[in-house]
Amino acid sequence: MHNTIDNNSHKLLKLDFNENSLGMADSAKEAIANALAGGARYPDKHRATLLSKVAAINGVSENQVLLGNGSIESIRAVVQMLHDKALKTDTRFQLIIPDPTFGCAELYARSLGIPVVKVPLTRDDYDLDFDNLKKAAATFDGISLFYLCNPNNPTAIITETDTLKAWIKNAPKNHYFLVDEAYFGYITDPSFESGVEWIKEGLSDNLIVVRTFSKLFGLAGLRVGYAIANPPMIADIGSLMSTDNINMLGAVAAIATLEDETFLAHSLQTTNQARKMMETALDELELRYLPSQTNFIFYEVNGDVQTYIDRMLEHGIAVGREFPSILGFNRITLGTPEEMTVVIKTLQLFREKGWV
Ligand SMILES: Cc1ncc(COP(=O)(O)O)c(C=O)c1O
Repeated sequence: MHNTIDNNSHKLLKLDFNENSLGMADSAKEAIANALAGGARYPDKHRATLLSKVAAINGVSENQVLLGNGSIESIRAVVQMLHDKALKTDTRFQLIIPDPTFGCAELYARSLGIPVVKVPLTRDDYDLDFDNLKKAAATFDGISLFYLCNPNNPTAIITETDTLKAWIKNAPKNHYFLVDEAYFGYITDPSFESGVEWIKEGLSDNLIVVRTFSKLFGLAGLRVGYAIANPPMIADIGSLMSTDNINMLGAVAAIATLEDETFLAHSLQTTNQARKMMETALDELELRYLPSQTNFIFYEVNGDVQTYIDRMLEHGIAVGREFPSILGFNRITLGTPEEMTVVIKTLQLFREKGWV
């Protein structure tokens, strides 16, 4: 791979999957090294410690938490649970998702033959189209599951809090809400409210929130995530999760990182710095972007997105894939400030060539 930017390492910049470019916390690496000798034992003890920590930081009881092999294990189990419920009660089941959004819920639904209704984001501000989402369920006589990613992937924006909250609160009993807060740790907008708070308020029995250690915590490869809901819902979803699903090394790394305030603050600070750098560069190039509340940003590239993706790759930078329902925009992970310097130089070079 050739690289025209002074990136001497010729190392591919992996800015395509919204991982944490800082890598794991040193405390997590140390915890893993110390735990390795115990690899022949089942992870019950570490699992129990992590469960109790996750419950404590979220201010919920342990029977309101499910640990998972990444957050996507919980997403799969929620889809499966409602599918089974529909079968047992001889009702129909559909998944309703905004478009575009993170693809796992759709993937799992399709693998079970569940119909998926896609509701495009609004064209003015790329938020959820609440009216059309509601309409998609109103005419359906079975169970509807809404998968809502807040902030959304790929747009990086949070949804309008009051409208979302009122909708969930007043929804009929056969409507379920799976709110994916994978990027929760990055949110700075004071208008945001987490679904976890709504669960604590008893806003809805049909609300499940999933979160992950893959982003701010830098543990994507170790596969640790969790779901929060009310106890009966957790019991129903939990019956479909595999026992001992938390790898012992993932558990100790997650525990160490949770306790590592210095790493978490650094992780947040570098992402904020990277976002500022990217926003300034995009402003200078007069390329539009959406207000990111995550560790990635969705920005306009003036032209064919796949060509842009290919050219970035030729210049040593892997960026996000195409999202065909929003033309002309690309998603890029906010890496380290050093990585963003390379990205920005590349963008400036692309402008000189008339490519963006
Ligand atoms: C919205 C969203 N949810 C879930 C995930 C995956 O999380 P995990 O690694 O915990 O399975 C991602 C990863 O990119 C994501 O963007």
